[in-house]
Amino acid sequence: MAKVNVKVCLGTTCFVMGSSNLQELLDLVPKKYGEDVDVAGSPCLGLCSIDWEFSKAPYVKVNDEVIKEATVEKVLAAIERELK
Ligand code: FES
Repeated sequence: MAKVNVKVCLGTTCFVMGSSNLQELLDLVPKKYGEDVDVAGSPCLGLCSIDWEFSKAPYVKVNDEVIKEATVEKVLAAIERELK
């Protein structure tokens, strides 16, 4: 099975909009999924500038899926979908 790749945006916009809460994913995901999921913080994913007026930051990418207004719960749900 291919690994699921998770990128938590830690760029300024996302950070201000709450991605600091998402940093627990960097701990939680490896504990929960081990080798099956790669998780890392990332500099600005370039999504906030496209969507600034309607900013849905913080953003997280799970493989090619962009999670808007990401929360720990939403990201875990997306990981579960990808692992199926
Ligand atoms: S700061 Fe997160 S997409 Fe730009």
